[in-house]
Amino acid sequence: KQNLTIVGAGSTYTIGMMMSLVAEKEVFPLKSITFYDTDAKRQEPVAKATEVLLRDKYPELEEFCYTTDKKEAYQGADFVFVQIRTGGLKMRELDEKIPLSNGVVGQETCGPGGFAYGMRSIKDMIEIINDVRKYAPDAWVLNYTNPAAIVAEALKREFPEDKKILNICDMPAAIMVSYAKILGCEIFDLVPEYFGLNHFGWFTKISDKQGNDLTDKIKNSILNQGFIPKDAEILNDPSWIQTFKQVEVMLRDFPQYLPNTYLQYYLYPSKMVEKEDIENTRARQVINGREKRVQKLAKSLISANSTEGHELEADIHGRYMVRVAASIAYNNKETYIVIVPNNGIISNLPKDAMVEVPAQLTNEGPKAFSVGEIPRFQKGLIEGQLAYEQLTVDAYFENSYQLALEALTLNRTIVDAPLARKILDDLIEANKDYFPVL
Ligand code: G6P
Repeated sequence: KQNLTIVGAGSTYTIGMMMSLVAEKEVFPLKSITFYDTDAKRQEPVAKATEVLLRDKYPELEEFCYTTDKKEAYQGADFVFVQIRTGGLKMRELDEKIPLSNGVVGQETCGPGGFAYGMRSIKDMIEIINDVRKYAPDAWVLNYTNPAAIVAEALKREFPEDKKILNICDMPAAIMVSYAKILGCEIFDLVPEYFGLNHFGWFTKISDKQGNDLTDKIKNSILNQGFIPKDAEILNDPSWIQTFKQVEVMLRDFPQYLPNTYLQYYLYPSKMVEKEDIENTRARQVINGREKRVQKLAKSLISANSTEGHELEADIHGRYMVRVAASIAYNNKETYIVIVPNNGIISNLPKDAMVEVPAQLTNEGPKAFSVGEIPRFQKGLIEGQLAYEQLTVDAYFENSYQLALEALTLNRTIVDAPLARKILDDLIEANKDYFPVL
């Protein structure tokens, strides 16, 4: 049985993660769960609601506690899940608004928003890994903090010898849930072939466990019926539905592979800008939607002191992370898409790139499957994006305005150098409390 610590436990994703741990308790049995957050006030209601939830749904769990003390948080941990958001949703909103006010895609991980979010996250992420290693030298760290590509690149440079940090994003899994719905099966019945960078990749093949190729079936269904995932319908969440709709357009224009939804920001930047409302970006929708909904749920769980009558569901985000952890803990050798150093996996991309690919997850970590050579179009796109990501991390470590300017100029959502300079200056001004001196 494992001891798990959740970093950034005040997040409104945490209750969903708890439900995933409940749903997967046979697969990933736990002895204890510890919450850690630097914001005690934000963490407390989530933790109190979790106490009720775990008492009702996870009676086998021996211990649950929450803390703002690092030693208490990490000592004895076997697994540490990291889900922080430096600057909170307030800064996310600026990450979205500042580019938009300059006529550029405003998104938390793509383009200048992702750059700013990365610049803010790196310092805290490095501190967290140092703290974890001080108190739990052998713990596995599963990190799904965004922007995952930039965070993964920075952690690889700062901790080159640390083989127990694994960066993961739930987006390929979320997309696979939609494929499974199309096919009328479960996500965990599907075997993906995929390559790319985080939020910048393609599924080349989807098969079932018997080896039947289902790719064309999925493509045809998307082209004929569109790509609207059931979960977004249920949530009645128009911005996510819009995101998924673009998949159909991408597939018509570039039919070779099934695209990650995030490619829309790089392939259709002007269209994406047109669709946005600067006064109601995704951060605003989350502040007014999910944040309020989860806060209300937490309050209600605490006051009822029971889970009865509450809608509590495990989400794919949580279930994916838990299955990944289980495969590592118990050497299940299951295949999941994760972020790893390339080292020849994609043979015509640099060795040091952090790539997102399927890997068998063992107790020694991920063993990625070879992808081989990728076509010129995808290679060209990836190389530009990779250089942007690496220059961003260079800019952070070298405190360099020049490298930051080069990074933003390379980004497909910007391109124009004077515009890159203007956006960079705006971001530096807004992030005075967070950025390194550039
Ligand atoms: C997906 C992506 C994550 C991203 C999240 C944002 O799960 O894979 O990288 O953080 O969407 O969701 P939100 O509801 O906060 O816009």
